[in-house]
Amino acid sequence: MSDAALMEASLVAAADVDIRLPLFERFFAAFPERRASFISVDAASRRMTDETLQMIHGLAAGEGWVWPLVAELVFTHRSYGALPIAEYDAFIDMTVEELGVAAGPAWTGEAAAAWGRHADALKAMIRKARADWASAMPAGAPQLAE
Ligand code: HEM
Repeated sequence: MSDAALMEASLVAAADVDIRLPLFERFFAAFPERRASFISVDAASRRMTDETLQMIHGLAAGEGWVWPLVAELVFTHRSYGALPIAEYDAFIDMTVEELGVAAGPAWTGEAAAAWGRHADALKAMIRKARADWASAMPAGAPQLAE
């Protein structure tokens, strides 16, 4: 089975669980100072959770829209301050872990490995987008906090 098909099976298995609530609780427990950056956790958590899963799956499926969307995401997130790359990594890892909890027995080793591979690809793409903005547009680029 392809990575994309394995990942679709996990999404179907987790479809009835709203993972954004435990996900954001975990994220804010790890980075409590970031809670104040959110005007509406309810609104942002829907989009951040869905779009993170869509991007990871899109990478597995070879979708060409992932790169421009990531470039835009990194640029618009400059409004929220200098977000350390470690927070992007943690958010992505926590999203995949919460999906795994929600998928239950459908979360096989193969499914976890497929999600992990493309989650790592998304992390690399975010790094590239931050570096490209910094080099193309130093004055307006997202701040590169470590
Ligand atoms: C792959 C990872 C991420 C994706 C796909 C993503 C996606 C999004 C989207 C789509 C929005 C809504 C923008 C809008 O409606 O205008 C948003 C808002 C936001 N994101 Fe992210 N995000 C990610 C990672 C992060 C990280 C690591 C942080 C760090 C804390 C963060 C902080 C925020 C904040 C503060 C908002 C605004 C919320 C508000 O105004 O209430 N995001 N994000």
